[in-house]
Amino acid sequence: MGTPMQIETQGVSVVIGGRSVLNNESVRCTPATMTALVGPSGSGKTTLLHCLGLLLPVSQGQILINGKEVTKCGSAARRRFWRDHAAFVLQDYGIMESESVAFNVTMQSSPLGKRTSERLAQILDRIGLADRPEEAASHLSGGEKQRLAIARAIYKRAAVVFVDEPTASLDAINRRKVIDLLTDFATNGCTVVASTHDPEMIEACDKHHEIGSGPAVA
Ligand SMILES: Nc1ncnc2c1ncn2[C@@H]1O[C@H](COP(=O)(O)OP(=O)(O)OP(=O)(O)O)[C@@H](O)[C@H]1O
Ligand SMILES: [Mg+2]
Repeated sequence: MGTPMQIETQGVSVVIGGRSVLNNESVRCTPATMTALVGPSGSGKTTLLHCLGLLLPVSQGQILINGKEVTKCGSAARRRFWRDHAAFVLQDYGIMESESVAFNVTMQSSPLGKRTSERLAQILDRIGLADRPEEAASHLSGGEKQRLAIARAIYKRAAVVFVDEPTASLDAINRRKVIDLLTDFATNGCTVVASTHDPEMIEACDKHHEIGSGPAVA
């Protein structure tokens, strides 16, 4: 993992098409911590997650990374953040369906070097896809795709991982697996930010930010 990353919003509001979809949200996501963004459907969890991940411009307020304001940073700086530090496990998983499992993790075409191959094998073993590196990602189930997206974040050694409803639509066993994988990120110093309404996932988080209720609480 690279530089530890603290990401926060200060009084962030988002207005889309004249409608307020996020109002004055302040949340601080710290390294080695898993922060849950919680609230009813439509409250703005995904929107706030996207603001924190610099995927969505804010209408008001500030976004800070390690204390430095990045609210108005240009596209080059945002791309650097995404490339060097962040990993996203969003609701559609971000999987390239026609590519292999191995490509989806490493983003490299074969042949892979010895060290990369070993690392890939280790990660695939960890997510339960050890015997399927060459298989097309389109063959995978929803739960397997979810874990594949997490494998990409592990491979990348991302300092920040943004996950949107990581356990929705998974059965109890897969839910546990995904929660354990995400907990490992935080244990290793990573900043994990999760939008979720799953009680088991919420329970596993160190910090909870209820949308519309002021700052995050432990
Ligand atoms: N691009 C958009 N255009 C218009 N409205 C939007 C857009 N994105 C989000 N919204 C609105 O903003 C509100 C918050 O949406 P968001 O997806 O953040 O909610 P959520 O808390 O993640 O909900 P869920 O639990 O259902 O995923 C919703 O009312 C939604 O309709
Ligand atoms: Mg959502």
